[in-house]
Amino acid sequence: MTPSSLDFDHVDLLIGTVESAEDANAKAVKSTVLTPRFYTTDFAALDRLDLSPVRAEWDAMMQEYEGDNNHDHFQRDGAFAEEVRQLMPQLSPELRQEFLDFLISSLTSEFSGCILYNEIRKNVSNPDVKQLMTYMARDESRHAGFINQSLKDFNLGIDLGSLKKTKSYTFFKPKYIYYATYLSEKIGYARYITIFRQLERHPDKRFHPIFRWFERWCNDEFRHGESFALMMRAHPHLLQGHNRLWIRFFVLAVYATMFVRDHTRPLMHQAMGLDSTNYDYEVFRITSEISRQVFPIEVDIDHPVFRACMTRLVEIAVADAQAQQQGGLWGHLKHGWCVLQAVATFTRLFFVPVKQRTLPQDMRVQPTW
Ligand SMILES: [Fe+2]
Ligand SMILES: [Fe+2]
Repeated sequence: MTPSSLDFDHVDLLIGTVESAEDANAKAVKSTVLTPRFYTTDFAALDRLDLSPVRAEWDAMMQEYEGDNNHDHFQRDGAFAEEVRQLMPQLSPELRQEFLDFLISSLTSEFSGCILYNEIRKNVSNPDVKQLMTYMARDESRHAGFINQSLKDFNLGIDLGSLKKTKSYTFFKPKYIYYATYLSEKIGYARYITIFRQLERHPDKRFHPIFRWFERWCNDEFRHGESFALMMRAHPHLLQGHNRLWIRFFVLAVYATMFVRDHTRPLMHQAMGLDSTNYDYEVFRITSEISRQVFPIEVDIDHPVFRACMTRLVEIAVADAQAQQQGGLWGHLKHGWCVLQAVATFTRLFFVPVKQRTLPQDMRVQPTW
């Protein structure tokens, strides 16, 4: 089995089905290795963050946030509702499930950013950090709200207030927040822009109007990533010594999670004229190029062992979902075996040689993809 050819029985096992608002809310609340999580951190440490080494770049970025060029973007126009009315009945039940899974997990990860940035804002007095978090929470709240409107078209709106209260939170030290959040913002940009460019070339494959919003939307994500890049560049020890191993770990963890998740949406990618594997490698390529602004190492996405391990992780995820569905002692043993194999595969991935990079003088990158 190549990961691009997951059939719907496998997809169904991995993502489940959403038939009611209750199912949609339950899916958003669930935290697994593969679903977006909510985070909390050491606010006192963030409060002590000194941005003076990057003052000029920081102030320029704050002006961009202040300018708020997307303040009027997240409004549905008249054509939106009409397109939803025309296009949604044409989706096959399988494609509909993959698209709902995409909307729910995208909303959860947008809202995860919104909560984290808001909590930091409330718990720090450092004016630089507080101001940044106010802007980023503003953006993420618009993003989450906009996706939720599309879920409401299916009568599957997520109760964000209750999600905030009921979903579990994972504690990350600030430096892990920088690595993970930087990556998730930049990968978010790369994902949205790749889809936008594809549908710009093939408008007939745009099966939902929300994709028309992705271009200006992903510029917000790009800028959020820039903020974390500057925080890390202001503290070079975060990018040196043993921290290079943490960076390698986070890049691989974020890439592997995305790869497995995206292979549960073969029909959605197909409907857009994409292939899950090729789409993901394009997203890896863009993200790796951007992250040269801050990461001193780059994982080798073309290394045959890297590629083999990514494929293997999808196979293990399918086997694991089957084991868990089977249940009982035998299912339990199989699940344990899958976990061991996933750990072994990830370890193998970790030892694929990386490329060394020298950080550029200019810390900022422009969203030109
Ligand atoms: Fe966002
Ligand atoms: Fe963001």
